[in-house]
Formats: sequence, C-alpha cells, structure tokens
Amino acid sequence: MSSSNLLKIRPTEHFSADLTVPGDKSISHRAAIIAGLANGPCLISNYLASEDCLNTLRAMERLGVSCEYSKANQDGPMEVMVHGTSMGLSSPSSTIDCGNSGTGMRLLAGILAGQKFESTLTGDDSLCSRPMGRIIKPLERMGAQLEATGKTEGCAPLVFQGRALNSIHYIMPVASAQVKSAVLLAGLFAQGKTTVEQPSETRDHTERMLSDFGIQLGFEGNKISIEGGQIPKATNLDVPGDISSAAFWLVAAAAREGSRLKIRKVGLNPTRTAVVNVLLRMGAKIQETATSQGEGEPTGDLEVHGSELHGTDISGKEIPNLIDEIPILAVAGALARGTMTIRDAGELRVKESDRIRTVVDNLLAMGANVTEHDDGMTIKGGVNLHGASLDCFGDHRIAMAFSIAGLFAEGETVILNTECIATSYPGFEEDLRTVGGIRP
Ligand code: S3P
Repeated sequence: MSSSNLLKIRPTEHFSADLTVPGDKSISHRAAIIAGLANGPCLISNYLASEDCLNTLRAMERLGVSCEYSKANQDGPMEVMVHGTSMGLSSPSSTIDCGNSGTGMRLLAGILAGQKFESTLTGDDSLCSRPMGRIIKPLERMGAQLEATGKTEGCAPLVFQGRALNSIHYIMPVASAQVKSAVLLAGLFAQGKTTVEQPSETRDHTERMLSDFGIQLGFEGNKISIEGGQIPKATNLDVPGDISSAAFWLVAAAAREGSRLKIRKVGLNPTRTAVVNVLLRMGAKIQETATSQGEGEPTGDLEVHGSELHGTDISGKEIPNLIDEIPILAVAGALARGTMTIRDAGELRVKESDRIRTVVDNLLAMGANVTEHDDGMTIKGGVNLHGASLDCFGDHRIAMAFSIAGLFAEGETVILNTECIATSYPGFEEDLRTVGGIRP
C-alpha cells in the first residue's frame, strides 16, 4: 500500500487481465490454528500474508507453536512451516492481539477456553466493539470460564481462566461459521461428543480441514459432531486463492462490456461461491473450470467476459454464503439495470464496520439511488456514478468495493485511509493498477 494511505482511482474502459488473488483468509486462519495443534510439522503453502492472518500465526507462536516463514517478495505468497504441538499449547506471557480479525479472535477463543492456563485476547477498536456473546454463551455452557471485559458489554478483551470442558449439543441462534468453528475447536479439547446445529449452511472450511488432519467428525443433516481428545495428524496444505478477494475483479470485469478476466487457482468451495451464482443471475458471463475436487478444498479457474448486468434479489439462506461479498455485490447492483434488493443481511451491521450503513453512505456519495433497510438495502441501478472522496471506515472490504466503483465513475474517486486493505489483500493496489484503475 502506498505511504499516503489513499487511493486515487480513475475511470477505466474495458480491460483484459489474468490475475491470481492471494490465499484464502478463512482457510489461512484455520490452517495456522489446526496445524499448531497437530502432531508434527505441517507445511502451509500460499498462506495469506495479510495482517489478520499473520496475527493468528503470531498468536499461535505466543502459545508455544514454532513457525518458520519464507516469502517470495513483499506482497507475494508465503510458505510457513508450522510445528504442531500435539494439542500441547503453553501459557502466553502476555495478552494476545488479534488486530482487526473477528475470525482470529473467535476461533482462538475456541481453543483457549479448554486450556489449563489463563490467557487474554484483545484487538483493535473495531474488533473490541464486535459482539463476542455469540461465542461466550456456548463456551460457558461447555464449562469455560471467560469474561468479556471491554468498554462495550459483551465485547473484547476476553479473559480466559482455562478450565476442563464438557461436551454440549448447541443449537446456534445465528448462522455463523465462526461460532460453529469455535465450538468444534473447543470440542476437540472437551470430554465426550460435542454437537453444533446450524440454522442454515455456513462456510465449512473447519470441517474440511479437520477431516484433512484425520479428525473424525459426524454429519447428520445440519448437525456436526466432534469427539474430544483426538489429535490432528500433521499434513501439508496448499491454500487456494480467496474468492472474496476475487469477487472485486469479477464485478469489475462482469459489469464492463468488452472486458475479459481470468482468475486462476481460486477456492470454489460451494459454501463460498454464492457470489458467482448471484452474478450469473444478474446476467454475468462467468465460466468455472474445476482444477481440483474431492477431498479438501475444491479449486479452479474463473473466466469472465463483460456484459450488461441486471438487478436481482439476494436474501434468506444465500446470505451466509456471500456475506463478505455484499459490499461489492451492492456496487454491482448500482452498475446494473433495474433493482437489486438485499434483505436478511442484518449481520452486516456487526462486521468490521456497519456495512449496511457504510455501503449506503458511499453509494449515495457517488450519486447512486439506494435506500437503507434494517437488514439490507434496495438499489435502483443504472444511475451514472460520479467520483467522490470516500472514507472506508477502517473496513478493508469497503475500501476495495468502492475502489471498483471508482473504475465506473465519472471523474476521480479518492479512497481515504486505505491501510486497512492490508488486513486481507496485500497486493490489491498492484492488481488495481493491472486493470488500469490507477496510473502506472
Ligand atoms: C468467516 C465467517 C464469516 C465471515 C468472516 C469469515 C470465517 O463470519 O463474515 O469474514 O472465516 O469463519 P460469521 O461466521 O460470523 O458469519
């Protein structure tokens, strides 16, 4: 990212590009944690070298896991050898900082709850204002002793006393992969069989990765069970590209007639590809070529050819599987003909920013016709966007979504305080240059 921490975006015509996006954020967090619990060294290739995922690796190091890093170049992919501890973590000497990452904090909470030592998790102002009650509740039912000590009720810092855990059957009130994962990871340290029941499908990276590490899980409808006391068997992993990062370029190419884009080696896990389904419904021309299927994470290439898009409705069970892509899908809605309606997405209000408010405010600032709802928004597309000076409210996905909007706006768009992009997408600025959005 440039030292000035702002991006000046110029409008572009169609482009032709081949891109490889950085490793998947959700999978990288899980790889650091599960490899750290495994019974030997695990080589993780294409680990996402972003602030969020580096914080999770650092957290594991603080818990006694040794890691050897190698990196091709500043923004390039990273290989990390994680020396697993056979479930034998050790007491950290001070507070563990999860930075901006809700996934890092909630998943680490799952493993810290059942340790024999005390520990504390904290984060930046945004993370310390996000709800942690959703993980505290099931962990307490397992016998954990933890306290949310933040200024805002139910928020981090989280202080753990460390206790032996018992197993539970937990019916999740919100469809959250982070809650599901926290309970399953805690279940690994609990006595007996822990079951989580999700109200609707959420990303299943934890289940896939635990299985890759030889952990036996039970699946029955929307229930997933794990028997405590199992030790992950060391294995190597290759992290696919992050479809949530690819989504920015998918929209940039899909909404511009004449554009062509190929994204290679991106994760195509069906619990993450709802963004592609929505774009296809909007009339986008996207072709998927699977390059690896079966065990582990499905991976493949996506090829996009620009065309005219039209609005669609996004709601219900589809929401958890595209929750992180809603900011960029809203931008696609503004660029499309007709109306896009987004409902049942109240969870957006407790992400890195209140993403309903921040998307609506920035779309309005660019001249779009958008109405805010409690649980989403309605966008009447086809209005010409104009450049504006936009804040991203410390939220990486808002910064990137509106950088893409800037490619379609009249005049210059300035995105302020873009340092947050480093939490998930090192190299974003370079890729933006590749598609012509900033001067070479
Ligand atoms: C994530 C799950 C989602 C998502 C987040 C990453 C994960 O959150 O928004 O960016 O890696 O498990 P919820 O599970 O809270 O919906």
